[in-house]
Amino acid sequence: MNKSLPVKIKNLVLKTPLLTSSGTSGSRDEINLLQNRDRILASLGAFVTKGVSLNKSLGNKEPRIVEVRSGILNSIGLQNKGVKVFFEEDVPELQKYEIPIIVNISAGSVSEFGQLSERIKDLDKNNAISGLEINVSCPNIKKGGAAFGADPLLVEQVVREVKSRVQDSFCIITKLSPNVTDITQIGKAAVNGGTDALSMINTLRGMAIDTDKRKPILGNQIGGLSGPCIKPVGVYMVYECFRKIPECRNRSVPIIGIGGISNYYDVLEYIFAGATATGIGTQWFINTAVFEEIYKDLNDYLNKTHETIENLVGKAHENI
Ligand SMILES: Cc1cc2nc3c(=O)[nH]c(=O)nc-3n(C[C@H](O)[C@H](O)[C@H](O)COP(=O)(O)O)c2cc1C
Repeated sequence: MNKSLPVKIKNLVLKTPLLTSSGTSGSRDEINLLQNRDRILASLGAFVTKGVSLNKSLGNKEPRIVEVRSGILNSIGLQNKGVKVFFEEDVPELQKYEIPIIVNISAGSVSEFGQLSERIKDLDKNNAISGLEINVSCPNIKKGGAAFGADPLLVEQVVREVKSRVQDSFCIITKLSPNVTDITQIGKAAVNGGTDALSMINTLRGMAIDTDKRKPILGNQIGGLSGPCIKPVGVYMVYECFRKIPECRNRSVPIIGIGGISNYYDVLEYIFAGATATGIGTQWFINTAVFEEIYKDLNDYLNKTHETIENLVGKAHENI
């Protein structure tokens, strides 16, 4: 193992700072279908699953994805088969990856988040799960999601509830929405609730209109924007949280930077802004070699500069 690449997210040791970002890598079959499966798994620090809820959800009306300039809009609406089937069908397969598994969770109320996390704790008999990522930030479901993500009190309550139900069984990551006036207020609330780490950003609310039909393209009308076009927003939000939240700055609550990453320069930008690890989503739809390419390029960069990722976290704050 390269000694420069591993990072720590609270008690989780990741062999590389590269994570899948939730919802963009499926939960089981997708990686198995790829010819470069082993190289992908060797590049990943952890696998973050698609959002899982207490009960099965069919998601939003189609069409659910549309390509826009430098990105995509999606309104999947958290389609999933529910936590019980997830444990029966997906977790045994995911365990074979032999990397930490982080389950992205979504719910419509504080108590439902509590119930769901406790259910995961009960179902996780083999200790297959390393972390839970609380999605308080989906912009395209009617219940929960965006409403949670914009309200500091609710975010604090959700995190406290999840923490109280699972204690220290899992590393708790709170995934923040960019669709707020001041993301640092929401980040602070999650820290007050006891989160172990923050991840940011989820997608930005957006819309595309079919000019022939003169109506919104997505079945749900609005969707979440992701891909290269959102990277400057993500980098800014990581920078601000690192700057203004003391626990992020002293790295007792590390940040996972997500949004628009396509190559290793993008990963470095996030690290310099204050992220300890990074999640990659939309680029994966364009280039299934993205993880192995970034892994190799980061390795080369660290060898050339005699640096470690951990040493580079937040460097942009020192150079002003
Ligand atoms: C098709 C799709 C599905 C997604 N599903 C989820 C989800 O279930 N839970 C979640 O927290 N984020 C979800 N996201 C957001 C991504 O995890 C990520 O935060 C966002 O896409 C920005 O990263 P990117 O620009 O690298 O894609 C989804 C994104 C896409 C494109």
